[in-house]
This record gives sequence, C-alpha cells and structure tokens, in this order.
Amino acid sequence: MHIPVLCAEAIEYLGIRPEGIYLDATAGLGGHTKEIARRLSSGLVIANDRDAQSLEQARQNTAEFADRIRLYQGVFSELAETLPAAGFDKVDGLLADLGVSRYQLTDPTRGFSILTEGPVDMRMDQTRGMTAGELVNYSAEKALADWIYQYGEERRARKIARAIVRARPIRSTLHLAGVVERAVPRTGRLHPATKTFMALRMVVNEEPVELDHLLALVPKLVRSGGRVVVISFMSSEDRKVKEKFRSLGREGQAAVLTKRPIQPSEQEVRENPASRSAKLRALEMK
Ligand SMILES: C[S@@+](CC[C@H](N)C(=O)[O-])C[C@H]1O[C@@H](n2cnc3c(N)ncnc32)[C@H](O)[C@@H]1O
Repeated sequence: MHIPVLCAEAIEYLGIRPEGIYLDATAGLGGHTKEIARRLSSGLVIANDRDAQSLEQARQNTAEFADRIRLYQGVFSELAETLPAAGFDKVDGLLADLGVSRYQLTDPTRGFSILTEGPVDMRMDQTRGMTAGELVNYSAEKALADWIYQYGEERRARKIARAIVRARPIRSTLHLAGVVERAVPRTGRLHPATKTFMALRMVVNEEPVELDHLLALVPKLVRSGGRVVVISFMSSEDRKVKEKFRSLGREGQAAVLTKRPIQPSEQEVRENPASRSAKLRALEMK
C-alpha cells in the first residue's frame, strides 16, 4: 500500500474547502490527490505529474473519486498553461511533494535503483530528454564531478567522476553502482553510490530549475486566501522553499504559516522510513 508522506499535515495546511479547486503538482501514485478528493463535494483536484506511468497508477488508485479529479501530464514549468487548459484561472490550494515516488525508485526498468539491474535511464518522463546513461557516458569528467558534488553533496565527487569515465561505457544501474562502490569505500549506512544516483537524477530531470519555476509561479497559480504546501526531501530544496516563502512574506504577497518546517512524527518514520527527511512548509496568499 502506498503511504503519502505528511498527509494529515498537508491536508490540514491546505485547509480544504469542499467546493474548492486544488492543484496537486506531483500526483505520483495519487496518495495526496485521493485524500484531497475525499474531502470535496463540488470541488476538483487537478492532478499533475510529468510521469505518464505514475499518472496511470494514480488514476487506478483514485478511481473511487474519479469525478472529482482531472489528470494532466506536464512539468512544473508548464503549469501556467495547465490551469487554463483545465478551465481555471487560479486555485484554492497548491500541493507539491517533491522528488521521486516509491514506484519510480523501485521499478528496475526506470533506472533509479542502485539495488536492481536496469537501464541507466532515471527520466521521470520517459518520452523526452537525455537519459542518465547518456549523461555518464558522454559528459566531461569535470561536469560529472561538479554535478555529483553540487547536487549529491558528495565530497568524493572527483574520485567518483574519474572512476566513471575510466569504466565507460556504463551499461546498467548495477554496473554504475559497482564502479562507484569500488572507487569510494562505504563510510556509513548509505550505499556509496546513493548520492551519485541522486545527483544524476536531479540533473536528468532538471529538478533544481523545475523547483525554481514552481516557486516563481505560485502568485500566478494561487488565488488570494489560497494555500500552498510544499514537501521536500533535500536540504537544498527546503532552503529554496524557505527563502521564496520568506520573500513572498516580506513583499506582503503572502503569510508564512510554518515558522519552522513540519517534520514527520516518530511513528510516521517508523511506519514509512522514506518519510525520514521530509520537511513541509506552508503559505497563505494575501
Ligand atoms: C514524491 S512523488 C509524489 C507522491 C504523491 N504525493 C503520492 O502521494 O502518491 C513525486 C512525484 O513528482 C513528480 N515530479 C517531480 N518533478 C516534477 C516536475 N518538475 N513536474 C511534474 N512532476 C514532477 C514525479 O514524477 C513523482 O511522481
């Protein structure tokens, strides 16, 4: 069963009104979408995701409330077009639960997993863009090192990039994970390739740029009095959300509802270890 992260908290901060229009920018498997839809009467959830396979799963998982949900495939930077296409100008609430879903991480054919053999793909939308395989096989060593350092926050990035370049062509996820593991020894609980995979995933999907787009679009997408809830899993992302929310607050465009980020309870972490690093921040537009 799919457990949406910080679900009760997200629902509370969205302040769902039964007749409201909500935009779930990251429908994923439909976990949050379903809980929003459950609380609606005449309202609607616009459920967006860039991953067609995830949207199909979301459709099945939320079938019970199909009449209150419209699914759209697209990236954050296209949301300004998605809303008018759905027939709306602005929404009463926007939710973004960043990163990848459990389904994406664990399906070997998607190439995100360090533990199962698969193609080095890592594209959330498999119809466009460069794969992580193309990235590791054709990028300059310096570019690889910079990405792994910056996005993976991996101090041993140069060593890893050198090992990858020497081992080219990288043929599969396990090949890549093995190359990294041989280059840098395990220091703690994490598999030594975890941060490298995360960095490649962020580059392939342009996650930092996409988050910038999403945050910049907030005033355009959300009506006065509407709420914004963002759940992030990486400190670099949480920092961006915090700074953007603060600046909207300072400019008088919004009121920040969470002085500090909301984090999962011990019980949630026990039941769903993937929620461990989640941080939720919320905002109300003025
Ligand atoms: C953590 S999962 C969301 C899980 C979802 N809240 C649920 O309860 O099932 C993140 C989702 O966001 C999608 N995503 C990430 N970046 C995106 C972007 N820039 N535009 C659209 N979707 C994106 C991913 O494809 C993934 O399905």
